[in-house]
Amino acid sequence: MIRFEHISKAYKTANVINDISFEIHKGEIVVLIGPSGCGKTTTLKMINKLIKPSGGKIYIDDKDIAQEETIALRRNIGYVIQQTGLFPHMTIRENIDIILKLEGVAPEERDKKTKALLDMVGLDPSVYMDRYPTQLSGGQNQRVGVARAFATNPEIILMDEPFSAVDPITRQQLQDELVNLQAKLKKTIVFVTHDMSEAVKIADRICIMKDGDIVQYDTPENILKNPINDFVSTFVGKNRIWSNPAFIRAQDIMNPNPVTAYQEVSIIKAIENMRLRRVDKLLVVDEKNKLIGVAPARLLNHHEPKSDPVSAVMYTPKVLATPYDSIVDLLTAVKTHDIHNIPVVGDDNTLLGLVTTSALVTTLSQQFIDFEEVANHD
Ligand SMILES: Nc1ncnc2c1ncn2[C@@H]1O[C@H](COP(=O)(O)OP(=O)(O)OP(=O)(O)O)[C@@H](O)[C@H]1O
Ligand SMILES: [Mg+2]
Repeated sequence: MIRFEHISKAYKTANVINDISFEIHKGEIVVLIGPSGCGKTTTLKMINKLIKPSGGKIYIDDKDIAQEETIALRRNIGYVIQQTGLFPHMTIRENIDIILKLEGVAPEERDKKTKALLDMVGLDPSVYMDRYPTQLSGGQNQRVGVARAFATNPEIILMDEPFSAVDPITRQQLQDELVNLQAKLKKTIVFVTHDMSEAVKIADRICIMKDGDIVQYDTPENILKNPINDFVSTFVGKNRIWSNPAFIRAQDIMNPNPVTAYQEVSIIKAIENMRLRRVDKLLVVDEKNKLIGVAPARLLNHHEPKSDPVSAVMYTPKVLATPYDSIVDLLTAVKTHDIHNIPVVGDDNTLLGLVTTSALVTTLSQQFIDFEEVANHD
C-alpha cells in the first residue's frame, strides 16, 4: 500500500538516497535498518512529506502523495520519534487531547478516547493523565508518544527509533506491546532502528540500507539464513541465526535423498543398497513417493528368509516432521519418543527427506564452533 518508485534524494552536497523502489504491504511491519547516515530517516520522512524527494514517486494506496494535500495525508499517518515530541509544558492528557481537538473530536469523546489510548499502551490514566512529561520515565513517555501516534486512528504509523532511549528491559516490553498492538489493530508500520534484534523481533520484513541504497529487503528469516552479501552477513551478525533456533527448519538440515525402496523389494537387495549408501534406515515408499513405512537395518538383518519383501519388517514411523518444523520441534520429538531419525513429509505424505540425530548434533555443534569463533574475535 506504500510504494516507492525510483525515489532519490540529493542535497547540494551529496546524494543521500540513490534510486530506491520497494513496496510495503497493508498491515505489515517493515523495519528500516542500516548504519548511521544511510538514509533511514530520510526515507521515512518522505512518506509523510516532511522531506520532498528529488526524483521518483511515492504512492499510498495507488495515489501519488505529491498530489495529495499534506494535512489530509498526515492525518492518516501517525509519527513517533525518539524524543517523543511531547509538549513539555502540557500534561499527558493535554498532549493527547490536542491531537484529538485538531481532529475535531467533541470534548466528552476526547476524554474517553484519551483514557482508552493510555490504557492501550499500558499506562493507568488515573495515575498518569495529569502529570507532565518530565514526571514520567523515558519508557512511559515513549508509551505516550505511541498513544499519540494512534490517536487519529491512522492507517500508517511511522516510528523513527522510538525505543532507542529506554533501558533494555523497558525496550523489550515496548517491543512486545507493539507487536501485540499491531496484531490487534493491523496498522501498516514503518519502523526505523539500529538494532538487529529489535528488527528480527518485530518485523514482517526488514529493509537493510547502506549509503542510500537498499541492500536486501526480505523476511527476517530469509535475511538471517541467506544474507545477500558480506555487508548483510556482517551487519546481521554471523551467528544470529543461532539465537533464533526457531528459524532453523527440518528442510534446512534434512537429507533430501534418503535410501528408499518399494515394499515389494526383497530384504537382501534393500540391505545391499543400504550398505552401499552407508545408512541404517530404509524408507519404504509407494510409486508416488508416498511414505508407507520405515525399516531399520537391525530388523532387516535379523529377518529370515532374506528373500522376503521389506514389507515383512517395516513399521509405521512414530513421528513425522513437516519441512517447516523447527529444530526445537525436532529435538523435542527426538527426546520425547527416543528416536534417531525423523522422516520429513509434505502434503499427502510425500517423502521429502530424513532428519537424522547426527544432522541435529552437527547443526548444534556448528553453533558451538561459531560462538567460539566470535568469542575469539571480540
Ligand atoms: N538537510 C540536509 N542537508 C544535507 N545533508 C543532509 C540533510 N539531512 C540529512 N542529510 C544527510 O543525509 C544522509 C542520510 O541522513 P538520514 O538522517 O536519513 O540518516 P539515518 O539513516 O536516519 O541515520 P541515523 O541512523 O544516524 O539516524 C546523512 O548523510 C545526512 O548527513
Ligand atoms: Mg535517523
